[in-house]
Amino acid sequence: MNSKIIAGIPLLVVALNVAMTSSAIAADDGKSLYTAKSCITCHGDEGKAPIVPTYPKLNGQNKEYLVAQIKMIKDGTRSGGGTAAMKAMTSTLTDDEIESISTYLSEVE
Ligand code: HEC
Repeated sequence: MNSKIIAGIPLLVVALNVAMTSSAIAADDGKSLYTAKSCITCHGDEGKAPIVPTYPKLNGQNKEYLVAQIKMIKDGTRSGGGTAAMKAMTSTLTDDEIESISTYLSEVE
C-alpha cells in the first residue's frame, strides 16, 4: 500500500473519533481524556502500544517530561519529525488536561 495512504489512516480515525466524542469529561480524568482526545489512536492502549514503531511509547515516562513535550508540540517549540501527526490534537487540550493526561501516563507501569 502507498505509504501516504497508510500515514493518513490514523488522522482519519482521529478526526472521526473527535467528531463523535463529547467534551464533557472532567479535566482531572486523565485516563478518560487519553481516550477521548484520541491519544490512544496512535500511542495505543495505556500508551504502551504505538500503532507504528516510529511512534513513541508513553507509559511510565516522567510526568514533567510529558507535560513539557505536549506543551512544546502544542506551541510549536518542538516541531519536525512526527510532531505534525499530533499537533492538531494538542491544540484542543487545556493546561489542566495536559497535566492530568501526563499524570495518568506516568503512573501506568
Ligand atoms: C496521529 C497520531 C498521534 C496522536 C493522535 C497523538 N500523538 Fe503523540 N505523538 C505522535 C508522534 C508521531 C510522536 C513523535 C513526534 C516526533 O517524532 O517528534 C508523538 C509524540 C508524543 C509525545 C512526546 C513523547 C516523547 O518521548 O518525547 C507525547 C508526550 C505525546 N505524543 C502525547 C500525546 C497525547 C497526550 C496525545 C493526545 C492528546 C497524543 N500524543 C496524540 C503521534 C500522535
